[in-house]
Amino acid sequence: MPFRGNFPPPPRGLKGRATELATLARTIEAVAPTRLALVGAGGSGKSMLACALGYRLARRFDGRIHWLRVGAWDFRTLVEMLAHHFGTSRERSRLVPELQAFLASGGERLVVLDNHEDDRALARLLETFAATPTTFVVTARRCLLSGILVFPVGAPLVTSGRSAFPLVAQLTRLLRWNPLALDIASAIVSSRAATVGELTRFLTAQGVSRARVIESEDDLPEVALLVDWAWRRLGSVARRMLAVLSYVQGDHVSRGSLGELTRARSSARHSLDRLQRWHLVQEPMRDRFAVHAVVRCAVRRKTTFAADAIFEHYISLLERSPGHLVREHTHLFSAMDHAHRSGDLATMLRVDRLLSNLDADLT
Ligand SMILES: Nc1ncnc2c1ncn2[C@@H]1O[C@H](COP(=O)(O)OP(=O)(O)OP(=O)(O)O)[C@@H](O)[C@H]1O
Ligand SMILES: [Mg+2]
Repeated sequence: MPFRGNFPPPPRGLKGRATELATLARTIEAVAPTRLALVGAGGSGKSMLACALGYRLARRFDGRIHWLRVGAWDFRTLVEMLAHHFGTSRERSRLVPELQAFLASGGERLVVLDNHEDDRALARLLETFAATPTTFVVTARRCLLSGILVFPVGAPLVTSGRSAFPLVAQLTRLLRWNPLALDIASAIVSSRAATVGELTRFLTAQGVSRARVIESEDDLPEVALLVDWAWRRLGSVARRMLAVLSYVQGDHVSRGSLGELTRARSSARHSLDRLQRWHLVQEPMRDRFAVHAVVRCAVRRKTTFAADAIFEHYISLLERSPGHLVREHTHLFSAMDHAHRSGDLATMLRVDRLLSNLDADLT
């Protein structure tokens, strides 16, 4: 059975999580198979912690650690995604039984379900595989489910009052200990584009500490203001790159797709370097790029990018070059989810043809 390891690389620069990691690892070692949810605000560091936890426990699970980004996808999309991941049948009547049999055999597994949003779909998924020796670690902003151990994730070191980001320690309170904001601020300062004092004055003048109602968990004024600060200093290609990455639904975008979607030519590398230097863009896999959901929210407020252009880019790329199917499969699943929800038959058939190719690829 082909296994496609897609666990992200070990998180670089993880700060202030020694206690949480030890507690989580001990809990899982003691009671596996189990289900555990890391629940906390946007950008509080759940995914980074889950990733570090996976590596911490990799030996315990004999390397059988798996990472799936689940988002708001429905049950059917979730099981199709698992089937794709484990190489089991996607044929309707065999989809669930084969997956159950697969997970029941071959030893204990640790499956991280990152960015969970749909409680109903997740409850069904967990119950479907309850009899298998699979430990599920879910990351979620909130999780209204019983039968799962909830572990709250706060900002690193917040309860000790210390700062996990020494270069911008002075900004810790102003940025409410938020690790995403502190990480971006620290990157800006270390690039020498601004001093801590300049950032402090900018953030204060923009009212970072003002109490106001926010729209969602992704609406974090401290991050949005740092994005504002950067936006004023970015060229048009870099801005378009942020726009594409903020409107794409798949996991991450290759350098080639980013160049094509932004029509960037020679300035692509320079623009991307700048975005990366300020930690506005992440590179979760080599040469593949993404933005954090909180950055995404701030960028979406500033600009738009046609979802159709993204859908068309990926579908035609995969039709033209089926060799990209495995690498780009999250874009295909996002297209499939879009097709399920839209109910548009032509779109569904187009996506389905590509999915059949993907199956053929796996057998
Ligand atoms: N412990 C940490 N040490 C250093 N940086 C951190 C830490 N935790 C979070 N960060 C920074 O914050 C960013 C967001 O972290 P992460 O993606 O884990 O948040 P999250 O809680 O999963 O957010 P979301 O709810 O949007 O999925 C990271 O990319 C990193 O830049
Ligand atoms: Mg996350």
